[in-house]
Amino acid sequence: MTAPVTVRVPAKVNVQLAVGAARPDGFHDLANVFLAVGLYDEVTATPSDTLRITAEGHDVDQIPLDRTNLAARAAELLAARHGIEPNVHLHIAKDIPVAGGMAGGSADAAGALLACDALWSTGTSRDELITLCAELGSDVPFSLVGGAALGRGRGELLTPLPVGGTFHWVFAVADGGLSTPAVYREFDRLTADTHIPAPEASPALLTALESGDPIALAASLTNDLQPAALSLRPSLAATLAAGTAAGALTALVSGSGPTTAFLVKDPESARQVAEALETSGTCRSARVAASPAPGAMLLQP
Ligand code: C5P
Repeated sequence: MTAPVTVRVPAKVNVQLAVGAARPDGFHDLANVFLAVGLYDEVTATPSDTLRITAEGHDVDQIPLDRTNLAARAAELLAARHGIEPNVHLHIAKDIPVAGGMAGGSADAAGALLACDALWSTGTSRDELITLCAELGSDVPFSLVGGAALGRGRGELLTPLPVGGTFHWVFAVADGGLSTPAVYREFDRLTADTHIPAPEASPALLTALESGDPIALAASLTNDLQPAALSLRPSLAATLAAGTAAGALTALVSGSGPTTAFLVKDPESARQVAEALETSGTCRSARVAASPAPGAMLLQP
């Protein structure tokens, strides 16, 4: 019997999320600067008679365990590409907040793809894996590659970016998730009748990433989905204020939310801000993590 395969996959934060107008296909053109952060899900693939998903961790009762799970769809897509049956047991150990705007579902899909590729010895090339990731979702290619990257198109067309140092973050986990399509719909509602410029990566932000200087990065973080996330979840304003009052360099909603991200100057500051957020009553919990983090990776048994 083939040995189980485990893949570790990072969460992401968007240090710039510039959103353009809705396209005819319903997606939005983006200039999406992804940064992988050191919070990880682990996906373990074990031989099985059928496709089966199990999960452990916070809020896993909120993720589907049937074939609508993005990890199951990843296994089916890879199997179909190679003309084999998608017979695998995928176990997902979740540490990335569920429906939190940190690409947890995308991470599980990228992890499942890499784990099944190894389990089934499909020998799929890196380029083909990235193409399959893009079929699964806009953020899935970045979960595979990690590091830092500019995502164009709907976020799936990646250009790797240089990062000149380690950035320290605190993430405030909210009670309950937010639906990404609902946040984009709210963006459309809030921006109706306004001119939306074509999204462009900010040169100042790219320079700040390359310099590794957290103060410069803090000055250039932006998220065009933040007003929409705040409109749907007004209580996030208090979380953002609590982290800033506790000494964060800056605060923003992570992706489509409701996780909020706080950039801090060093690990000591991260501990202080996390403690203040934990006791502020404005979030469920606070997590400390550093970036950049590597992409999806096979763990040695
Ligand atoms: O690509 P993914 O399946 O992750 O996207 C989820 C939803 O988020 C889409 O159905 C769409 O409503 C919205 N979305 C968007 N524009 C993007 C990415 C996602 O409108 N660039």
